[in-house]
Amino acid sequence: MEKNEMIAKIKELKAKKGALIVAHNYQIPEIQDVADFTGDSLELARKTAAAPEKLIVFCGVKFMAETAKILSPDKKVLIPRIDAGCPLADCITVEEVKEYRKKYPNAAFAGYVNTNAEVKVLLDVCVTSANAVDIVRKLPQKQVVFLPDKNLGYWVQKSVPEKELIIHQGGCIVHRQFTKEDVIKSREAHPGTKVIVHPECEPEVVDAADVVASTAGMIKFVRESPDKQFIIGTEEGHIHRLKKERPDAEFFSVGSAKICVNMKKTRLSDLLACLEQEKTEIILDKDTIKNAIRPIEKMVAM
Ligand code: 13P
Ligand code: SF4
Repeated sequence: MEKNEMIAKIKELKAKKGALIVAHNYQIPEIQDVADFTGDSLELARKTAAAPEKLIVFCGVKFMAETAKILSPDKKVLIPRIDAGCPLADCITVEEVKEYRKKYPNAAFAGYVNTNAEVKVLLDVCVTSANAVDIVRKLPQKQVVFLPDKNLGYWVQKSVPEKELIIHQGGCIVHRQFTKEDVIKSREAHPGTKVIVHPECEPEVVDAADVVASTAGMIKFVRESPDKQFIIGTEEGHIHRLKKERPDAEFFSVGSAKICVNMKKTRLSDLLACLEQEKTEIILDKDTIKNAIRPIEKMVAM
């Protein structure tokens, strides 16, 4: 089927079924363009919860669709590619968290939103890359087990030196590919241009950048900046999103473009099949939802 025909069918089915389509900032341009909303994982989960639609199609990776289901337990949440996982979220198991709990009984447990639902159940509070520093600073405990991303953990530790962080050594295989040399070369190629990187990048890349921000933070920064050029250190799909925000500006990747293969799995044909067959649905049991929503609500309250 032709691309335009697929887009027309997706729109027709979406209207007929009263569905809401949301897409993460790293999705391929065609998916971002056909979605009702694009955003970061938490932003999208909250959008889907606030929306009147009862049928949600989440174009992203599995932990993101799960977070949407946790915040919208009465809605039907579909993911076009159930095999789109996140190696960062998958790098920490329930058993490991239980081990940490035994070893650090007095610590607070702060976990990135990039975790699977069964791990969220065991957390005291969730964080995003946008609010991790603030949330950890506000926790009453001095000792904090921070999981699963070590680079985000190091960044938080540096920003909140009064806390003692025990950092799980997981990482994002995409963001870890950016190097300090990439930053130096990009600056040489585009003198005077600001370098904006995601906190999942290695500490020396974060230190060499001008701005450290989540994907939502990057959007806010470029929207408010008078600059006409930006060097971006995150998954390349985000540049499509940033260009829409600032069509007058130019965006370059730090070094070469880095791709998250899981984010790129969802194609228009997958989205169409998902809407036609209402597959695959995210199913979580009631207890998991009840317990996994707790750290998310705590984060929102804080
Ligand atoms: P954001 O929450 O900043 O969108 O990041 C999600 C993610 O998967 C980062 O790699
Ligand atoms: Fe996971 Fe990294 Fe892909 Fe984000 S970019 S979904 S953290 S693997």
